Amino acid sequence: MSTITHKIGNKEFNLDEEKAEAAYEAKKIINGRDTMTFNLLPLKYKWAYEIYKKMKANHWEPEDIPMQRDVQQWKSGDLRDVERWIIKMGIGYFSAAEGIVGDNIIHVVREMVTAPELKLVLGRHAHEENIHADSLLYMISSLGINPHECEAMFEQIETIRRKNEFVTEISKSLRRDLDLTITENKQLLAKNIFVFGQCMEGTQFYGLFGMILSLYRQNKFEGIGQMFRYTLRDESNHIEVFRNLFKDLVEENGDIWTSAFQADLLETMKEAVALEKEFISDCLPVNAVGLCADDFHLYIDYIADRRLEGVGLSTLNPETKNPFPWLAEVIDLEKEQNFFEGKVTDYQKGSSLGITETSAEELLGI
Ligand SMILES: [Fe+2]
Ligand SMILES: [Fe+2]
Repeated sequence: MSTITHKIGNKEFNLDEEKAEAAYEAKKIINGRDTMTFNLLPLKYKWAYEIYKKMKANHWEPEDIPMQRDVQQWKSGDLRDVERWIIKMGIGYFSAAEGIVGDNIIHVVREMVTAPELKLVLGRHAHEENIHADSLLYMISSLGINPHECEAMFEQIETIRRKNEFVTEISKSLRRDLDLTITENKQLLAKNIFVFGQCMEGTQFYGLFGMILSLYRQNKFEGIGQMFRYTLRDESNHIEVFRNLFKDLVEENGDIWTSAFQADLLETMKEAVALEKEFISDCLPVNAVGLCADDFHLYIDYIADRRLEGVGLSTLNPETKNPFPWLAEVIDLEKEQNFFEGKVTDYQKGSSLGITETSAEELLGI
C-alpha cells in the first residue's frame, strides 16, 4: 500500500494513495459524494480552506469597539440631518441584509454544495453575518435608536424593499430538492451564487460602505466607521468565496456557461446597479460635505465592473474610473493594528497558514 504526504500549511498528513485519490475524485462543487462526516482530507478546494483560516484570523467582536464619541456626536447639535440619516439607513438596510445573506448560505448554498471544505468555509461565512447583525444591535443600543423604526425601514423605504426583494426572490426559488443534474437548475444555483456574491455583497453593499467611511474619514462616527471597516474586510472574503465557488462550479459544469446565461447575468447586474443607484439617491437626498450622489453612482458602476470581470463577464462601463481612490486608504487596516489592544493581531498570529494581512485592494474585493 503506497502512501502520499498531503500538506496543508505547516501540517502534514500521510494518506493511503488509493483512498486519497478516490476521495479527491469524488469531491465536486455539486453532485459529488454526499457525506455527513466532514472528510476534509485530501483538500481539493484549497482556496476554501485558506479563506476559512483567513476569516478566523480576522475575528472581531463589536463590543471591543468604543462608541462613546459616536454617542456624544449623535446627541450633539453638530451633525447635519443627512449625516444622521445615512447612519440610520446603514443600520436599517444592513439589519435586513445580513440576515438574508446568512439565511441563503445556510438554506440554499451550503445545502447544495457537496465538498466538505466548501461547507466549512460557508459555515464561517454565515457566522460572520451573525457578527455583523450583532454589531448593528450594538450600534442601535449605543445610539438609542428605536429598533422598531429600523425594522419598519425594511418595508417602508421602497428602495430597501426593492433591493431585498431582488435577492430574496432568487433565494426562495431554490428552497426545494432540486435535481442538479439538469442544466437549468445548475444555472439557477449559479445565478444565486452570482447574485448574492457579486451583485449584493459585492456591489449593493458598497454605496453605504462608501458613505459611512466618508463620514469616518471626516472623524464622524469613529466607532461605527471601525465596525464597518471590519465588516468590509469580512465582506471582501465573502465576495471571494462566492467568486471562487461560481468559477469552479462553471468550470466543472460547462453546460451552465451558455451565451444566453451570460447575457442574463449581465442584465441581472444592470438591475442590481439601478436598484443601488436609486437607494443611494434615497440615502443622499442632498449632497452633504464630501458626499455627492453622482460620485457614488459612478463608484457603483466602477465596483460592478470589477465584479463582472472577476467572474469572466464583460464590463458595463469600461470607461469609468474609481471616483474614490482614498477609500482604499481608509479601509487599510494594517495601520491600526493596535486598535483592539492586540486582540485582532493575536488572532492574526494564530493563523497557521502564515497568511499575510489583507491588502487595501483585496479589501475592495478586487
Ligand atoms: Fe455581512
Ligand atoms: Fe457577507
